Amino acid sequence: MKYNLAVLPGDGIGPEVLAEGVKVLEAVGKRCGHSFELTYGLIGGVAITAEGTALSEATVKMCKKQDAILFGAVGDPRYDDPMAKVHPEDGLLRLRQALDTFANIRPVFLFPELIEATPLKTNIVKGTDFVVVRELTGGLYFGKPKRQWTTSRGRRAVDTMAYSEQEIARIVHVGFELARKRRKKLTSVDKANVLLSSRLWRQVTMEISKEYPDIELDHMLVDTCTMRMIQTPTYFDVIVTENTFGDIITDEASTLTGSMGMMPSASIAGIPAEGARIIGFYEPIHGSAPKHAGKNDANPIATILSVAMMFRYSLALEKEARMIETAVEDILKEGYRTYDIMGAGMKKLGTKEMGDVIAKKVTGK
Ligand code: IPM
Ligand code: MG
Repeated sequence: MKYNLAVLPGDGIGPEVLAEGVKVLEAVGKRCGHSFELTYGLIGGVAITAEGTALSEATVKMCKKQDAILFGAVGDPRYDDPMAKVHPEDGLLRLRQALDTFANIRPVFLFPELIEATPLKTNIVKGTDFVVVRELTGGLYFGKPKRQWTTSRGRRAVDTMAYSEQEIARIVHVGFELARKRRKKLTSVDKANVLLSSRLWRQVTMEISKEYPDIELDHMLVDTCTMRMIQTPTYFDVIVTENTFGDIITDEASTLTGSMGMMPSASIAGIPAEGARIIGFYEPIHGSAPKHAGKNDANPIATILSVAMMFRYSLALEKEARMIETAVEDILKEGYRTYDIMGAGMKKLGTKEMGDVIAKKVTGK
């Protein structure tokens, strides 16, 4: 089979980690007889420099024609000025909106080999394996009004956390569906003691739960959740939450996996039916890490695991997804590490070399 993919490397370490993702993709293709037509595009700071916008409409159009999109990272200190009209991050937000990829799936899985790489006690983190389903196209990121203006008493700015019941329902369904494929437990995270949008979230979630009598549902306030996550991470199976809460808790959750460099993600418009394909985009949750750019030391595993998620969700190729995940597990067992997950007696590799050992595992040569 031949698949069409967009590749958007972006800024900082984005191009370096994504090159390794593509290397592993090609290795899977070779082993399983798939081929990929790759179309490269600009996003983020590099797009601002070249085209004056963080994501051109031509690139959006190109992306929409693909089976899936592989994405590196955006963010560039040259464009960090809070006065600037355009920011690299705008490109990512535009893409999420244009593709209506409202469901962002972020697995929080601690490979047993990396227990020592987390800052937490072994007895606490051991067995950490949950998934955060983050709403991705609503809430504070996109709600209107959203603006800054000047009043007679100085400047003011507003962001709006708005949700419709339809927006809540579709993401909560994704949470329930994923829980059904796992340990059948869903935790809905909100701030219903204060926010009206959270109270609506809770009402809708409770109504939808009637369709999933086999799933155990609980509600947790987001502040409690941040504490519970590092106190008893094994409590969680699937978490569903709104955009900003999901952004914050997934960075926190990455410490449970040993490194930000271990956290992949998939952004899709709902869970496809068995065997069906759906366009989505796939990215590591870490940022562009400008200080590490060009040093060949960034961990490409988050990106490589995102490629696995692409096989699973967008191409309906579960065997290929597992092939990559098993390869990562194997090389970790063999002691290969990048600097961020390095431990005593382990073999330290650069970005390219880590991509090489994983690709080699995949092809079996
Ligand atoms: C993420 C990132 C983005 C977000 C930034 C880069 C806009 O932090 O994917 O978690 O806030 O969604
Ligand atoms: Mg984030």
